[in-house]
Amino acid sequence: MNRLEFRKLPQLSYPVNEAFNTLSTNVSFLGRDIKKIMLTSSHASEGKSFTSLTLCRKLAERGKRVVLVDTDLRRSMITTVYGVQFAPGSKKQGLSHYLAGIAEKEEVLFHTNVPGMDFIPMGHELLNPIPLLSSERFQNLLDGLAEEYDYVIVDAAPVGVVIDAAEIAKVCDGILLVVSYNQVHRQELIDAKNQLEQTGCPILGTILNQVDYEGFANKKYYYKSHYSSYYKAYEKEAEEKKS
Ligand SMILES: Nc1ncnc2c1ncn2[C@@H]1O[C@H](COP(=O)(O)OP(=O)(O)OP(=O)(O)O)[C@@H](O)[C@H]1O
Ligand SMILES: [Mg+2]
Repeated sequence: MNRLEFRKLPQLSYPVNEAFNTLSTNVSFLGRDIKKIMLTSSHASEGKSFTSLTLCRKLAERGKRVVLVDTDLRRSMITTVYGVQFAPGSKKQGLSHYLAGIAEKEEVLFHTNVPGMDFIPMGHELLNPIPLLSSERFQNLLDGLAEEYDYVIVDAAPVGVVIDAAEIAKVCDGILLVVSYNQVHRQELIDAKNQLEQTGCPILGTILNQVDYEGFANKKYYYKSHYSSYYKAYEKEAEEKKS
């Protein structure tokens, strides 16, 4: 199989690491029928790609076979933000090539430097990916992957901005809605929820991202004082590993 490397995998702070451990535990309790999980949000830049990638890493750490599919065909930033480097000799093909019939699944599926995690990059940007995302070829791809992997994590465009995620949801088993802390109005979230519910795909839950941790601590919503010694110990250990 083709190979690529994520050269800029984010370091996770203690609370983020713990939050993703909880998320991956919750995902693994969803049951065997929930394999194709789409992540979306109301707005751009709420952390869908970060969350999708980190969830994949955590599930893979637990020994799950997981594939991340980048379906943000209009403007995905994954390859840039996370420093994706294709192995020499690998064709830089992705989902758009597969959907256009130019490449087959094996040609767009990459092993990564995260053991247990494979990746389908987006390929080329498209102005209007809807016809391709609503095709049988896309559904066949996700269904085929669900047979091979424990989880198919689908990173989608924001549903409040373009309709792509609603199309993708129709062929997924569940949706996780990423919400950036203090960035989204209640009504926008309700609109996103209504839009997604129309697809018939269940919303599994929301993920509150980019939380102002200090703000939470001040309001005593978060047990910072109780756990602060653990954070410090963990972060010291992480620093030592880096150096
Ligand atoms: N919890 C987090 N901790 C640290 N960095 C984060 C976190 N969430 C998001 N980021 C960073 O914020 C930026 C935007 O996040 P990301 O690309 O995941 O958003 P997105 O919702 O996928 O955006 P888009 O709508 O453009 O696809 C990235 O640089 C990402 O690494
Ligand atoms: Mg993204």
